[in-house]
Amino acid sequence: MRINRERLQDSMERLGRIGATPRGGLTRLALTDEDRRGRDLLVEWMRGAGLAVSVDQMGNILGLRPGADALPPVLMGSHADSVPTGGTYDGQLGVLCALEAIRSLNDARTETRHPVGMVIFTNEEGARFQPAMIGSGVMAGKIPLEDAYNARDRDGIRLGDELERIGYLGGEPCVPRPMRAYLELHIEQGPILEEQGLPVGVVEGIVAIAWSRLTLHGVQDHAGPTPMRIRHDALVAAAEVVRGVREISRQVGGDMVSTVGRLDVVPNIPNAIPGRVVMSIDLRDPDDTRITRALGALDRVVRDAARREGVQYELEHYWRVPRTDFHPDVIDAVERAVGSLGCGHRRIFSGAGHDAQYMAAIAPTGMVFVPSKAGRSHCEEEFTALDDIEHGANTLLLAAADLAQPA
Ligand code: GLV
Ligand code: MN
Ligand code: MN
Repeated sequence: MRINRERLQDSMERLGRIGATPRGGLTRLALTDEDRRGRDLLVEWMRGAGLAVSVDQMGNILGLRPGADALPPVLMGSHADSVPTGGTYDGQLGVLCALEAIRSLNDARTETRHPVGMVIFTNEEGARFQPAMIGSGVMAGKIPLEDAYNARDRDGIRLGDELERIGYLGGEPCVPRPMRAYLELHIEQGPILEEQGLPVGVVEGIVAIAWSRLTLHGVQDHAGPTPMRIRHDALVAAAEVVRGVREISRQVGGDMVSTVGRLDVVPNIPNAIPGRVVMSIDLRDPDDTRITRALGALDRVVRDAARREGVQYELEHYWRVPRTDFHPDVIDAVERAVGSLGCGHRRIFSGAGHDAQYMAAIAPTGMVFVPSKAGRSHCEEEFTALDDIEHGANTLLLAAADLAQPA
């Protein structure tokens, strides 16, 4: 049993047109009109593949193919939202490979004991609404439903209102459900598989992640008549924090990475001293204790920068996901599947967050990685060769069929 490469490629191209950017990338932020159009197409395809489709209270879309026995399903999934000027592989590829695996089970008339299904999670990226992985986080019971509904985008628009507006506020409870296994195919988003010339990564786990939000309150004033000695510039303090956050990963060591990705400056005009800056801090490491140390270092960086510039601040450490190790049985199933294909593979650890991270809290979970060209993602240049995708998709198909057990 193998996937149909041409059909998968055709689906990738068609879904990739919704929210396509002129430079070959994708902007399909969660719960926008583009997201709705992408979801509508996916639901049409899922129904076309004979799946019973339902939508839960978080807008997560679930499609089930019946099994021979009344047993918990094997679910494959990922997300269909993107970052702004992102690529057409992050998330979409996992969703489309899940669909292609189900279409291939249908083609081969394969009966399984466990139902096999797919799930498309809401707002995985965390680009529009924070935190990331919010749909899977609610499903896993790690994020309260009301908190998720009350998440607001930059313009103050509520997630719950947008779910309703695009027609994906479903009725199914978004709660942990019995699952035989959860499997997610994703691009690696790092350089290792490409460097080693391997088409498939058997993912062992995901790093711990912490997100913080810093608001710096300076004094907005005129850029001309205000002498340097009496300024309290929120952006100058922010610049020190950006530099300090970069330093944290060096100080803490190990595999720690630290990023300031967002900076909102008020009033953001040439001739005013910035009165307010809101910024994000993203810290990641495979070791939870190093995250704790990094958060302590961040507190000090911010305190010192704010004191030097004489500005007030609020620092919120509002999201943390612990290091996640996947289930040995699912890792083994993925390894058996790729082994039976006879293509190169290795075990690998994920530096990016995925819905699989939350699913691992409620189900035996594993992932399949395929290489990213030059290790790049969250950019329009994101690319994975179709040959590699085919190996990855076949790995997903065979692992899912194995876990679902032949009827
Ligand atoms: C998801 O893309 C993440 O932030 O790792
Ligand atoms: Mn992703
Ligand atoms: Mn992503």
